Amino acid sequence: MITKKILQIFNFFIMFSFLTISSIFAHEGVKNVVKERMDKFKMSKSMMQQINTNIRDKDFKNIEKASQNLLIWSKEMSNYFPEGSDIPPSEASKNIWLDPDGFSKAIQNFEQASLNLVNQSQLKNLDGTIESFKNLANTCKSCHQKFRN
Ligand code: HEC
Repeated sequence: MITKKILQIFNFFIMFSFLTISSIFAHEGVKNVVKERMDKFKMSKSMMQQINTNIRDKDFKNIEKASQNLLIWSKEMSNYFPEGSDIPPSEASKNIWLDPDGFSKAIQNFEQASLNLVNQSQLKNLDGTIESFKNLANTCKSCHQKFRN
């Protein structure tokens, strides 16, 4: 009788600690994804600064490299915004989850603009490269206006 009671209590503790541990893991997971996407955006900013310098130097090889990095990021970006990940210090706007189609579209625009820059830099077309770079910068800005606090 007593052993049964002890077993019940024991079971309860095991269950309880599993629940606590898994919610801690879930929270850690969200914190990690926020940190990772912030790092990717910092990388995006430094890629844009590099491309700006590379355009001045007509260094098409490095423009292509940097825009390839942005293209890869554009294809992964949607995985980095799980629902409920607008936790501090994130600046992600609630609009991301209120308007998922608008957010997808903003990612698509970014992807297309990165691809255009890759193509223009491969063609070593200076005017086309400058034009694509400006369009790309606009896709950053317009997404931030709607989806970043
Ligand atoms: C589809 C939307 C979208 C696009 C496109 C986009 N961003 Fe962002 N950006 C965001 C969001 C949302 C955040 C806030 C992320 C967070 O804090 O969790 C952000 C944050 C940032 C940050 C701040 C990072 C930090 O450390 O807090 C920088 C810098 C940045 N973006 C640069 C860029 C640049 C440069 C581009 C274009 C090459 C770009 N972003 C394209 C949505 C976008």
